[in-house]
Amino acid sequence: MEKSVFKKIYEIFKKEKGEIFLVGGSVRDMLMNKELTDFDFATSLPPQKTRETLNKNKIKNFPVGIAFGTVGAIIDGKEVHITTYRKKETYRPRNRKPAVEFGETLKEDLKRRDFTINTLAISPDGKIIDMYNGAKDLSEKLILTPSNPDESFEDDPLRILRAFRFQSQLGFKIENTTYKAIEKNAFRLMYISEERIQAEMTKLLLGDFVVKALAEMMNAKVLNFFIPELYPLKNLHQESEQHHKDVWLHTLKVVENTPKDATLRWATLLHDIGKPYVKAEEKDQIHFYRHEELGAKMAYSILSRLKFPKELKEDISFLISKHMRANLYTPEWTDSAVRRFIKEMGARLDKVLILSRCDITSYRKEKVREKIKMLDELSERINSLNSIKGLKYPLSGNDIMEYFNLPPGRLIGKIKEFVMNEVIEGRLPQETKKEIYFEAASTFLRSITKKSKN
Ligand code: CTP
Repeated sequence: MEKSVFKKIYEIFKKEKGEIFLVGGSVRDMLMNKELTDFDFATSLPPQKTRETLNKNKIKNFPVGIAFGTVGAIIDGKEVHITTYRKKETYRPRNRKPAVEFGETLKEDLKRRDFTINTLAISPDGKIIDMYNGAKDLSEKLILTPSNPDESFEDDPLRILRAFRFQSQLGFKIENTTYKAIEKNAFRLMYISEERIQAEMTKLLLGDFVVKALAEMMNAKVLNFFIPELYPLKNLHQESEQHHKDVWLHTLKVVENTPKDATLRWATLLHDIGKPYVKAEEKDQIHFYRHEELGAKMAYSILSRLKFPKELKEDISFLISKHMRANLYTPEWTDSAVRRFIKEMGARLDKVLILSRCDITSYRKEKVREKIKMLDELSERINSLNSIKGLKYPLSGNDIMEYFNLPPGRLIGKIKEFVMNEVIEGRLPQETKKEIYFEAASTFLRSITKKSKN
């Protein structure tokens, strides 16, 4: 399939005397025998000419960012991007769009790219063009800039994060000179738009080598410029049987344990950020009272800063606020306690349980086994009470207003919650005639009106 895409595109551009090469991540992925997901081409033709050429050949195309030289096209059902050679690409502070200077040659286009492993190109006759040692660095698993790293990071400071993102995805090492330039230029991340940081960080968190990347980012003080709240976790001592001794090392371990899901990985990264502020020592024991509550609030504000959508902010901070709940489980919990737990966690129940499981990082094997056993037991009991998960209010607000002839108000909500709670506690059946619920509601209503008269 890919061959037919290349062939078609190369032939079309040849007719117009335009140079065209497959470039960047596509070539890197191809040489790493990965499945191609992106098709990025670089051409000598200016953007308008690219569009005319595609139109002439009846190929569906659309502007992706004409000002930056990129045209999108659909070839054999695949979306490809074709970008005019660039000489320079600089990001103005806090701007999502770069200022672009078009170039004349492939060589200058490749030179202004982020890392040597992304400077490889493939010519129409299938030859690999390697002007900046990309193939060697790829085989040696090295991340370094093809030009002066200080200039490169000044042109686009997001590249600092991209270096760690590639490290997290590919497990490569950041070469020393590039690493030093990262430390020196890390402050420039303050000039990057939050949306770009968010997108890059999410990719980074989903990498196979995420722990290595996060550990180096902490050491290079890169995290300080967009999540400074993580910094006090380093060397924060937590002498406990259940935990690693240092909250940052524990956090890394928990991230590593977490499945590759963006909501979960963000939640684990931030789950203990409240700890530094509520540390208390009692009888040689260290406590972090209600750190989950504070952490959830802090996470919400971090995620707001990084411009996360509301739903994700709520999901992640909910998970953080509940990350201690399941690990408090003991076999003494009654069925109604388990039912209340299910109801409180709602649609996020599964993720709360996963986070709790990942949070167990004790060095003591028997402690880990014991904790896992408790969580397994809780999950089993949850499954046996499964029908409670999708439980809807047995009486709606309208039902209550009509039946008791009451106006809207707080009392309606109270009655609604009362009936629901009776079902959760198992004192009323889950599915039955409404009369039974109304009867219970009447008794409740009588009891509270009596109380208010006294
Ligand atoms: N690029 C760059 N500097 C940036 C962003 C991108 O030099 N700040 C160049 C790199 O050559 C990169 C190419 O543009 O390979 C495409 O960018 P992008 O799609 O973001 O990265 P990929 O390397 O393709 O990786 P992925 O598809 O995994 O994001």
